[in-house]
Amino acid sequence: MSGVNEIRSTFLDYFARNGHEVVASSPLVPRNDPTLMFTNAGMVQFKNVFTGVERRPYDRAATAQKCVRAGGKHNDLDNVGYTARHHTFFEMLGNFSFGDYFKDRAIELAWNLITKEFGLPKDKLLVTVYADDEEAAGLWRRIAGFPDERIIRIGTSDNFWQMGDTGPCGPCSEIFIDQGPALQGGPPGSPDEDGDRFLEFWNLVFMQFEQVEPGKRIPLPRPSIDTGMGLERIAAILQGVHSNYDTDLFRALIDAVAHQIGRGPDEGTRASYRVIADHLRASAFLVADGVLPSNEGRGYVLRRIMRRAMRHAQLLGSREPLMWRLVPALTREMGQAYPELMRAEPLIVETLRLEETRFRRTLERGLAILEDETRGLGPGQSLSGETAFTLYDTYGFPLDLTQDALKARGIGVDTEGFKAAMERQREKARAAWAGSGEAATDAVWFSLRERVGATEFLGYDTESAEGVVTALLKDGREVEALSAGETGLVVVNQTPFYGQSGGQVGDTGQIRAAGLLVQVADTERKLGDVFVHHAAVEEGTLRVGAAVELHVDSRRRSAIRGHHSATHLLHEALRRVLGDHVAQKGSLVEAERLRFDFSHPKPMTEAEIREVEDIANRLVLQNEPVVTRLMAVDEAVASGARALFGEKYGDEVRVVSMGTDREAGGRSFSVELCGGTHVGRTGDIGLIAIVSEGAVAAGVRRIEALTGEAARRHLAGESRTLREIAGLLKVPVAEAPERLAALVEERRRLEREAAELRRKLAMGGGGGGSADEIREVSGVRYLAKVLRDVPAKDLRPLVDEAKKRVGSGVVAFVAVDKDERASIIVGVTQDQVANRNAVDLVRAGAAALGGKGGGGRPDMAQAGGPDGAQAEAALKAVEAALAAA
Ligand code: ALA
Repeated sequence: MSGVNEIRSTFLDYFARNGHEVVASSPLVPRNDPTLMFTNAGMVQFKNVFTGVERRPYDRAATAQKCVRAGGKHNDLDNVGYTARHHTFFEMLGNFSFGDYFKDRAIELAWNLITKEFGLPKDKLLVTVYADDEEAAGLWRRIAGFPDERIIRIGTSDNFWQMGDTGPCGPCSEIFIDQGPALQGGPPGSPDEDGDRFLEFWNLVFMQFEQVEPGKRIPLPRPSIDTGMGLERIAAILQGVHSNYDTDLFRALIDAVAHQIGRGPDEGTRASYRVIADHLRASAFLVADGVLPSNEGRGYVLRRIMRRAMRHAQLLGSREPLMWRLVPALTREMGQAYPELMRAEPLIVETLRLEETRFRRTLERGLAILEDETRGLGPGQSLSGETAFTLYDTYGFPLDLTQDALKARGIGVDTEGFKAAMERQREKARAAWAGSGEAATDAVWFSLRERVGATEFLGYDTESAEGVVTALLKDGREVEALSAGETGLVVVNQTPFYGQSGGQVGDTGQIRAAGLLVQVADTERKLGDVFVHHAAVEEGTLRVGAAVELHVDSRRRSAIRGHHSATHLLHEALRRVLGDHVAQKGSLVEAERLRFDFSHPKPMTEAEIREVEDIANRLVLQNEPVVTRLMAVDEAVASGARALFGEKYGDEVRVVSMGTDREAGGRSFSVELCGGTHVGRTGDIGLIAIVSEGAVAAGVRRIEALTGEAARRHLAGESRTLREIAGLLKVPVAEAPERLAALVEERRRLEREAAELRRKLAMGGGGGGSADEIREVSGVRYLAKVLRDVPAKDLRPLVDEAKKRVGSGVVAFVAVDKDERASIIVGVTQDQVANRNAVDLVRAGAAALGGKGGGGRPDMAQAGGPDGAQAEAALKAVEAALAAA
């Protein structure tokens, strides 16, 4: 019969023909259930549809769902590789009814598929039903024509399916095939049911309840159907093999391993090949869904899986990192059905290679220690917890890897001793920290971090997810609840909200649940990896332990993504235009704009700014994918990646590349170490507009730029203004600059002419006063005049001119403006300065104008006053002062 890929599509096509919506597999990291480590069944993505919280446009669905069971309720890691059926990663085929059909149609659909489409022999099939489910038993009798002995009643939890400690659940009916007496084992419910002869391959769950908390079960709004058929199992049955690892898909993967090792499996090594093949699938799919190896949570489960496979590669004698070389074989087998595998291939390859390269350095030494420490031990004895902890702490051996390594020899590990050693280590870290004199306010975060762990950031892949509240703070103290009207800080076990760092601002959005609405105004990070939401509760009460939905303000986040990716493009464009000395000195990435500081000794010219903008926008239009990979820091930097200013990096870093440098043989245009969030393709940036360039410090310049909608709005506004200007000038936009320049020039000329005319007018046509206006006062030549409409700034040149006319003596002018305010100015020729002080004279005049004071130098002084009507009197006052001197 057919291969795995064909079986998968036969299943989906069959249910599509029978009125089901074929829905894509959801990611392995559940978006809608913070209590689940990984998606562990087909129904997980429909959890809220079953409970009535969510509605979909269909009532029937079918999926091939990626699942991982490697921790939590369905933990299988220890057995994987040693049995015919256990996997960490597997595919579950399922059909679902959300309040549409129930038991009868579910059984009928299942029966027709396996007997007609798959052609399984009817007489080899049998089923179980939950002990008191008479209805299901009756349906099997009627639909399949089964006699009673092939309908086995099971009263245990085996026939009651539950997603986890909470969630939808119900009695189930499992379908078995009898593989014949050549295999060991009895029918379900019999003492030797665990043998291989009777193989369960399809579980039909009659979803009727929701487990809301341990011990409390409520009915679902409408009875529903959830089924799960392990694709690996049905493939084994249809291909007539007795181990899932002998199906076509696994054979291809095991062949790829054999090809790399240079030899195929035998009795002694079979398990290692299987472990590698299985763990390759889990690792690759987890990385494709955004999980990266780490020492925390999901990342740690991934690391355990990877390292377990790597130890088995080492057992097979592989001296070089192996796993990453197997990725193309996996993509060939599964990439059609799961395109995410192809998309993420570079990231998967890098991640595997990096993890294996690093782990190899210590693996052999760790194994040697293990060998030494267990030399005297025999079956039933245990390795000390202290040694297991040293292997964990110094050599990166997860506990289960140590256990796995000793399994074949029947040696155990003192896990209590391991835990005790771990606790002692923590104590030491606490003590060391307490003495380091950190600010007291951080103390609360330190103990909180120790208690609740790092926050898992889901925001690279999603903008909405569920999380469980792990801590609440108000005024620097932990509290149990925040109620409507209160503000405080919220910590959740996982979040799609980006916590401010690397120049990128924190996300905003909402936290919601039934009857609860919380606005998140900002998100930051404490101690690097505890994400803290600044929250204001609007409705309801937020409590520690509550499951909540977290929704990032998606429009704002998109704008932030655009500005962040544009920052990378501008950084590289600046280097190309200005030179290699350009280095990032600071960066701010917001929704409305970006700011980028860089080293450069002088202002950029208009032409340089335009060139930078042109290059960056060319990359936008090329619209190529933005690729994220994981690398070791030194490797990343060696590959030409630019590190972010002021950022601290862990051992592994995200490397973000974008655009192809068409002139440089297709290399990436920009490669930077960056933990920020980016657009999917450069085209999503839309547009980049540099709006300012200036200095921030010696040798550091700053540009500000806008992207996307912000850029469009800015440019549209400028263009409107331009049209308005052209309209006023009554010329087309293109001619506006020339027209405006001409107008400005003309205005300058007119101003000059006007000033000249005013002056002439003021001075009675002759300029500077005619001879008959000059009088003698106490032996000094004195010229005095009231001027109208002469701007104050013209007075000095007029006085200078008049002084020349007078030759030797004193000049006084009072200028009166339209508002009847007066300015008075007095000039004394140089030869008279010793006897007459212009400042004294002007003060005398200013007093008459109702003004006070007056200032200047002995040869020229000026003052003002409100009373222009007294202009003549003021001149008389000056004359009087002159006479008196
Ligand atoms: N949810 C059911 C299972 O996982 C079908 O077996």
